[in-house]
Amino acid sequence: MHKAKCLMMIKFLDLQKITQKYGAELHEAVRRVVDSGWYLQGVENERFEHNFAQYIGNRYCVGCGNGLDALIWIYRAYIEKGIMAPGDEVIVPANTYIASILALTENGLKPVLAEPRLDTLELDDSLLESLLTKRTRSVLLVHLYGRCAYTEAIARFCREHNLKLVEDNAQAHGCRWSDGRRTGSLGDAAGHSFYPGKNLGAFGDAGAVTTDDEQLAATVRALANYGSQRKYVFKYTGRNSRLDEIQAAVLDVKLRHLDADNEARRQIARIYIDGIRNPDVMLPVTMAADMNVFHLFPILCQHRDALQTYLSEHDVQTLIHYPIPPHQQECYKQWNTLSLPVTEQIHQQELSLPISQVMTTDEAHYVVDLINSFNV
Ligand SMILES: Cc1ncc(COP(=O)(O)O)c(C=O)c1O
Repeated sequence: MHKAKCLMMIKFLDLQKITQKYGAELHEAVRRVVDSGWYLQGVENERFEHNFAQYIGNRYCVGCGNGLDALIWIYRAYIEKGIMAPGDEVIVPANTYIASILALTENGLKPVLAEPRLDTLELDDSLLESLLTKRTRSVLLVHLYGRCAYTEAIARFCREHNLKLVEDNAQAHGCRWSDGRRTGSLGDAAGHSFYPGKNLGAFGDAGAVTTDDEQLAATVRALANYGSQRKYVFKYTGRNSRLDEIQAAVLDVKLRHLDADNEARRQIARIYIDGIRNPDVMLPVTMAADMNVFHLFPILCQHRDALQTYLSEHDVQTLIHYPIPPHQQECYKQWNTLSLPVTEQIHQQELSLPISQVMTTDEAHYVVDLINSFNV
């Protein structure tokens, strides 16, 4: 047992430690903004937007208030441009965080919930044709858990049926498809979340849209700024959802370390993948290293709740992503009777193990030992 080397509780995510890792650079960035006297729509936004667009591999990046808004603005912009209309359908994985679905219903679009594959936990692209109707306008692809969910079949399906491929890249910053392109640049537009716990996390809420579509970027920028492109002139009924200068400065510091941070996550993941051997525990299919940035490390276990309690009793924090699927939530009563067995199984069995760029290899080995000695 590696317990002797892990005297403390293994936190699910130690944000304090993550911040300390880049403490001096972050303090300097925040101080620079504080001292500048300029807190919104300034040089920090410009710099971060430029650097993040380059990093992702898109021509445009528009900062906004959070990841949910990023997705809302993309679809709202498509509606404003006449490419979609309320009532149109968007195919989206049924096993996603609620924000992916909210972004659609907020715009009056109809989410068409697609089952994932149990072995990858990603959208099952073999189901796409069966979900297509005259009203389908888009696929919202979610790179859940930090895994690249893109496939050539999804891209072909979108091309053939003239659908917008939108990526929810909230959990997958830095991830790449097998040809080297990063998630977020694989479709027509992508929404990003910089919620503090994300691989690229701010000191509060923050988000962005990336795209190569100049008009879309301009529309999103206006929508997130009261609907205005020129001061005191309002083209759309927008909202106030901007990225503030302190968050942009913080994100720009962390962006420089993102690839190294993701590599550190992969090191922990490798220990889990190589070490976990328990007949009651299933790991999702392993993919090429670059295609997974391990925002989370999900495992499936029939005795999930017992395993979680057991790990907790041994000082290991875990979380469930997510306990209730969107179609069973109270806010979507109209779908509560839907049967989505794969999604439901994932939600009943999923457990996320601790993983981060500051977790130690001893801690990971300790978690492996515990899981391997778990039985009901
Ligand atoms: C898959 C996914 N999409 C969208 C979001 C929304 O991002 P935010 O929390 O920044 O609004 C999240 C955040 O948790 C997410 O995990």
